[in-house]
Amino acid sequence: MAFLDKNYWTERYVTSKTGWDIGFASPPLVQYLDQIENKDMQILIPGAGLGYEVAYGWQSGFNNLHILDFSSEALARFKSLFPSYPDKFIHHQDFFEHTGKYDLILEQTFFCALDPDLREDYAKKMASLLKPGGKLVGVWFDREFDFEGPPFGGKSEEYRMLFEKYFKVKTLAPCYNSIPERLGSEVFMILENSKI
Ligand SMILES: C[S@@+](CC[C@H](N)C(=O)[O-])C[C@H]1O[C@@H](n2cnc3c(N)ncnc32)[C@H](O)[C@@H]1O
Repeated sequence: MAFLDKNYWTERYVTSKTGWDIGFASPPLVQYLDQIENKDMQILIPGAGLGYEVAYGWQSGFNNLHILDFSSEALARFKSLFPSYPDKFIHHQDFFEHTGKYDLILEQTFFCALDPDLREDYAKKMASLLKPGGKLVGVWFDREFDFEGPPFGGKSEEYRMLFEKYFKVKTLAPCYNSIPERLGSEVFMILENSKI
């Protein structure tokens, strides 16, 4: 397997091998953000790439919205698309080294980009970054791929077993508003930090 460090991802951006990039904010995340009234909540989007969901949230009035990615190229592109985005909300850092406490963390093709051996660490780290009652929300692939990842696939039963150790699984359901190319192959999850 390729060594999935920051250089690997930056190289993917530089060589335009960015098949994951849908070019706009992901509809399930948009719909979720749209029903939140409290625009002051602390939100993190890790492995956000060009940060379309960050830009969408910011333009919708969320004023504590943090973008995190360890690829300098991804964040440079985000900055060139949204030059006025406050630096204090931009984290150029490895997710596993990040510290903070959030009300909400959004997931969009970050989990599937990680070595599957890190899934337990991902779940644990996400729980540690959430305030009590905070939520990890987003989409995860509910399919396997017939090539070596990334993306790495997975199945909803596996996610339930993993996340139940750290979260209350409020929602785990087929995602009805995925982009057409991913419809039927994603689950939408709302995971509440009720264990820490
Ligand atoms: C498949 S891309 C998804 C980007 C974005 N979420 C999207 O949907 O367009 C995965 C992103 O996660 C970032 N990434 C991978 N591992 C990371 C880590 N350990 N810490 C921070 N960012 C990471 C990569 O740099 C890349 O931008």
